[in-house]
Amino acid sequence: MRLGIISALADEQQGLVEAMEGPSRLVHGQREYFVGRLWKIDAVCVLSRIGKVAAAMTATTLVEKFGVTHIVFTGVAGAGDKSIRVGDIVVAESLVQHDMDASPLFPRFEVPLTGQTHFLGDHHLGQQLVSAAQWFLNHGLEDAISEAERNVFSLTQPRVHHGLVASGDQFMNDKARLAQLNDDLPGLVAVEMEGAAVAQVCHELGVPCAVIRAISDNANENAATDFMRFVKSVAAQYAFHIVRRFCYQ
Ligand code: ADE
Repeated sequence: MRLGIISALADEQQGLVEAMEGPSRLVHGQREYFVGRLWKIDAVCVLSRIGKVAAAMTATTLVEKFGVTHIVFTGVAGAGDKSIRVGDIVVAESLVQHDMDASPLFPRFEVPLTGQTHFLGDHHLGQQLVSAAQWFLNHGLEDAISEAERNVFSLTQPRVHHGLVASGDQFMNDKARLAQLNDDLPGLVAVEMEGAAVAQVCHELGVPCAVIRAISDNANENAATDFMRFVKSVAAQYAFHIVRRFCYQ
């Protein structure tokens, strides 16, 4: 197994490159790829930057140039539903590109000529991430995040969800738009900007992939402020501890 680990932003992947044993740094397509041993796993860590094209390019490069056999995307997301709270963790069961609309030529959300609207996350990887996330919330949260920070974000009883993640080239900060998307995509648990692009690439290349996200905001009018606060202080802790647990499983 060679695991590709993608995050959009440095804050979402802090500590992982530092935890690698003697990583080599390779630059390709204006991105830095760090290749080395991460705890027990042969891994390649990279920042995709934000958006579906950036994520697709990065996932393709990981497979075609770096030979990864599995991909995990880790980062933050907006809550896809009122029942999902900031601090919860979401693992994608399936992913959809919410801004894909070639209707009336093809049904809304269908990626033209693939016959698919939804792309599945790998079941086994997903289960491993769910259990690593559960472990972190039950045993690691108090050590990783100070009480003050937990209080700021009301991280009292965060939960893990497994469900539908929607990706689009849009930062979602509008309650009405989210409600509309909720009607159009039942079972939505998170909105973000990369996961479904990675899932499509991995589907086409036959590589298992998984997407795990900490909820940073409610995708409403306060989303940008909440996002900035969460990503700066908490997101890195989530990614680091969950990926470490995952690598040791
Ligand atoms: N990532 C984190 N929060 C998000 C939001 N509200 N919309 C899109 N991507 C996000």
